[in-house]
Amino acid sequence: MENNERGSWGSNIGFLLAAIGSAVGLGNIWGFPYKMGKSGGFVFLLVYLALAVFVGFAIMCSELALGRKTGSGPILAYKNYTKRFASVGWLAVAAPFLIMTFYSVLGGYCIYYVITNFIGIFKGVPDSSSFGAILTNPWISIGVLLLFMVICFLINRGGISGGIEKFNKVGMPALFVMLVIIIIRALTLPNAVEGLKFMFIPGYAIKAGFISESPSVLSVLATAGGQMFFSLSLAMGAMITYGSYLSKEENLPQNSLVIVVFDTLVALMAGLAVIPAAVANGINNGIPVGEIKLGGPNLLFATLQDVFHNMGAIGGLFGTIFYILVLIAAVSSAISLIEVIVTMIIDGNTLKGKSSDRSMITVIVCAIITAIACLVAADGLGSNGIAPAQLFGVEVAGWNDCWLDFFDCWSEGLAMPIGAMIMALIIGWEKGSESIYEEIRIGYEGDIHRFYRICIKYIVPIVMCFISAGSIADYFGSQAVGYAIAIGLLVVYWAMCRASGWVDEK
Ligand code: TRP
Repeated sequence: MENNERGSWGSNIGFLLAAIGSAVGLGNIWGFPYKMGKSGGFVFLLVYLALAVFVGFAIMCSELALGRKTGSGPILAYKNYTKRFASVGWLAVAAPFLIMTFYSVLGGYCIYYVITNFIGIFKGVPDSSSFGAILTNPWISIGVLLLFMVICFLINRGGISGGIEKFNKVGMPALFVMLVIIIIRALTLPNAVEGLKFMFIPGYAIKAGFISESPSVLSVLATAGGQMFFSLSLAMGAMITYGSYLSKEENLPQNSLVIVVFDTLVALMAGLAVIPAAVANGINNGIPVGEIKLGGPNLLFATLQDVFHNMGAIGGLFGTIFYILVLIAAVSSAISLIEVIVTMIIDGNTLKGKSSDRSMITVIVCAIITAIACLVAADGLGSNGIAPAQLFGVEVAGWNDCWLDFFDCWSEGLAMPIGAMIMALIIGWEKGSESIYEEIRIGYEGDIHRFYRICIKYIVPIVMCFISAGSIADYFGSQAVGYAIAIGLLVVYWAMCRASGWVDEK
């Protein structure tokens, strides 16, 4: 057990692996390849990298610093730091909760795929039809969901160094090794090179017919931006929470850099494992290029399962390794989301002078998440007739076609970009970048204040306006509405900064 109720990281490397574990998740392995597929390959990659450098890195530093400075999770961290916007802390706790309602269901699917691929080694490897089979079977979906939540519960119950750090110290290296094995197998498939061209040659996606028209600028920006935030576990209190367990000796910019680099590396590696295999398998089976499904959520759970199916019995082995890897990634991220809520409750108790029973708190948090997640599991991505659009009797749109998208829209689509925008507003304009930079300076010898200030004050808010607008436009299906909202947000933002006469440091 930890020696005090809050606990802390056992070592910096332990913290790093846990933070990388939080960042590396379904977002990297499932989301990144398919969003790259949907948004036209290489251009998406470039936009993503630029956003990671100029937006992701600055916010990562800010969150870790805010957590360490205040020594508490998001609610108290914001309360202690700002007067005007303290309530943004609530966004940062609500969002992980909403994300967990579907993340856990997807994690459950991973367990199902590990089991079916393993059995497949002996009894014939399943093909893409297994996705339809699990979506339309609520009982199996709920069963594996429960299993997933029990695994997470057992880890979170162990606390920061005794549970989360321990799991990641073994899990992260294992994930890396397995990913390398899968990449080698994928890239040695005949025709895999077509997939590489799709990923790395500008314009190839359209020329070769993988996608029929180039997506709009706003939509690429919104997709890449949303992906970057989700993938780096930003704007949801997770890094504030993990930062609050960090000691003053640690170097925040260096840690942030390592997290961003590794997360991006794993996303690229996941792309290398998934896209060339899916393309090669399609071509080798005579499927026309335009019909190979790179662009949707089916990529990981259907298209890829066909790849393993077509390898014969050995495919069962590769499938098992691959889905174990995805499962580790999902667990290590889910525990960070759960920890945001658990830490919040423990801190709240401490403030009231009450002691906390971590096991009890973790049970309750996990149980509430599971209860709502059962709805998402039973819905099966809208396969079973209980999607929000059907229940509420409204017209089907991006945000209501299934319960997963419904929760995703509120969390990833809205709470996340708006939370990040407000964070930049507080740091850059209300309090001044020095208020966070003074914390960053502790344990760090170099000087990135100028870079940090420009990012947090100007680049982040402008980019965030477009990302929020783009995701609103995506969910509601209108470009014009998107641009109108983006410009509106910028004006409101500018007016707030002007009117309040906030710090304007040079
Ligand atoms: N980063 C994880 C992924 O890529 C998901 C995740 C974990 C997350 N913790 C988070 C996203 C906190 C936002 C905020 O799958």
